[in-house]
Amino acid sequence: MTVQLWRNCRVASLQPSHPAPYGLIDDAALVLEGEYIAWVGPRGELPADLAARCTREHDAGGALITPGLIDCHTHLVYGGDRAHEFELRLQGASYEDVARAGGGIASTVKATRAASEDELQTQSLRRLQALLAEGVTTLEIKSGYGLALAHERKALRVARALGHLHPVDVRTTFLGAHAVPPEFAGRADDYVDEVIRMLPLLHAEGLVDAVDAFCERIAFSAAQTERVFEAAHALGLPVKLHAEQLSDSGGAQLAARYGAISCDHLEWLSEEGAAAMAAAGSVAVLLPGAFYFLRETKLLPVTLLRELGVPMAISTDCNPGSSPCTSLLLMLNMACTLFRLTPEEALAGVTRHAAKALGLSDRGIIAAGLRADFVLWDVAHPAQLAYAMGANPRLQTVFEGEVV
Ligand code: NIG
Ligand code: FE
Repeated sequence: MTVQLWRNCRVASLQPSHPAPYGLIDDAALVLEGEYIAWVGPRGELPADLAARCTREHDAGGALITPGLIDCHTHLVYGGDRAHEFELRLQGASYEDVARAGGGIASTVKATRAASEDELQTQSLRRLQALLAEGVTTLEIKSGYGLALAHERKALRVARALGHLHPVDVRTTFLGAHAVPPEFAGRADDYVDEVIRMLPLLHAEGLVDAVDAFCERIAFSAAQTERVFEAAHALGLPVKLHAEQLSDSGGAQLAARYGAISCDHLEWLSEEGAAAMAAAGSVAVLLPGAFYFLRETKLLPVTLLRELGVPMAISTDCNPGSSPCTSLLLMLNMACTLFRLTPEEALAGVTRHAAKALGLSDRGIIAAGLRADFVLWDVAHPAQLAYAMGANPRLQTVFEGEVV
């Protein structure tokens, strides 16, 4: 096994137990054994026997090193775009108006169904490349624009293929309960039956790591969502939820009862919902891109979440309707300006807490025993990652121990 030494760097380890903000280690050394981190700390404390075993040495040139970024909530695989709906909304139509008029998710479903697997992969690859260029090493991708077995399968297969072909770990989420497709119009409960029929089939093909739903008045009720969660639990799959985005539907409490790994959006989250999430250990996934793009004004209760100790992750929500965004770094900035997170909370939101939102304990911080996924940045201090708008100071990405 190769043992590699990285030196001449500052490491923002994001270790929660580390006394310095960001878990910062100045003049650090980092030792990798194969795909894992073997040691990290101040260079002067590097054990001599470990140093002697290093077969490769890298000079980081004074770069800042952070954990690889984790985008824990995306709908990256879809066909077409919704620029026309953007125009309609700017003329006064609301996101819900557009959805009720048969646009919205339904229009992307049409374009996604029409695309072949190859076309879908080509269109999605551009978005993936933009995320990778900013240091993303783990990415969640949801289905939910197929809404029929063959098309949900196609989207999940594309998601898996992207992960196999590129230096990124892709986690897939089945979001069959994203919207009621046109062929089930007025028969939402029948469509939920169909979702429950699809799930074990797709899971048996190795295409599903978690299950999500959209609990909202334009999508599925709490009772319908619960049936999907029951089906997920029967297969031993973790659940998460698009909750309280446009209204308080009590989704967070429901998700918490099912031990949800995360509840996402949460603009309308109630105190009861926040308390239930805290008790269940669910991560709050903040999606400032959707908040901004839909010109929302209702702010989620960040202070309350902080007081309750609910971990906050941040994600792009990359999707054609509410957040056509492929910059996780921009989301750091927007989480600070719009939601008043500190830059340190924002960075934890795309590393340590994003890992937790995916139920992953082998990444998200730089520590011995964890995956060697990290990024070298041309910045002096980690706050600069959240501070700059539209900058990309990434120098290099290391994925599974190797420079990409
Ligand atoms: O996360 N809210 C539901 N789903 C997506 C948007 C889907 C769409 O408009 O295409 C979201 O905001
Ligand atoms: Fe979403």
